[in-house]
Amino acid sequence: MSKKIIIAIDGPAASGKSTAAKYLAQKQGYIYLDTGAMYRAITYMAIKNDAFGHEDKVIELAKNIDIKLSFEDGVTRVFVNGDEITEEIRSPEVNAKVSEISKIAEVRVEMVKIQRKISQKGNLVAEGRDITTVVFPNADIKIFMTAELEERIKRRFKEFYEKGIKITYEEVRENLIKRDKLDSGREVSPLKKAEDAFIFDTTNITVEEEIDRILDLINNKLNHNAITN
Ligand code: DC
Repeated sequence: MSKKIIIAIDGPAASGKSTAAKYLAQKQGYIYLDTGAMYRAITYMAIKNDAFGHEDKVIELAKNIDIKLSFEDGVTRVFVNGDEITEEIRSPEVNAKVSEISKIAEVRVEMVKIQRKISQKGNLVAEGRDITTVVFPNADIKIFMTAELEERIKRRFKEFYEKGIKITYEEVRENLIKRDKLDSGREVSPLKKAEDAFIFDTTNITVEEEIDRILDLINNKLNHNAITN
């Protein structure tokens, strides 16, 4: 069996990870794994089951949850225990609470198990906060994606606005700053650049430029590996 390729992308919220990862997955015919969607799914379930704020209940939920992700026509659909919660996991309430859930070590252990299992199915593009450092430290390509805070706020606000979700620019700003702080400052699997990750700043580039540059990077890296192996 030929070796499966893994492209790992980490970075803060609205840094451009999903845009790049989805495009690459479609173009290369790889599986797309949105690990943030998994932490969002647990958060949604915790809120729904009055478990938010009760760590033991959240851990129990994480151990028993059946999360399925599907990716078709550029859209990730999320199912928990058979019910679709694709829209629900992107709500401002889940945004505000997800970092509290994802800092729980036992929840992360369960999610990482599922993520590694998915990677056995084929070539993969995975994005999140700990993909390059913890989940797939031996990934073929590692990218640390970033963008200036103001640009990220603008992007996230636009997304909410386009979906008709009522939220102010200031609320988006507060949420992003808070999540960045929690996601980078937590004890378990914090967001940080892996030593061997390429830094990719998307602040002043268009989506097309972002994609072109990543494709160059991947082609160079994969060709180089093919020559040296
Ligand atoms: O990528 P996202 O914004 O949808 O992720 C939502 C939250 O999930 C993020 O604020 C932190 C958490 N997360 C994580 O802790 N580890 C990951 N690999 C992916 C996301």
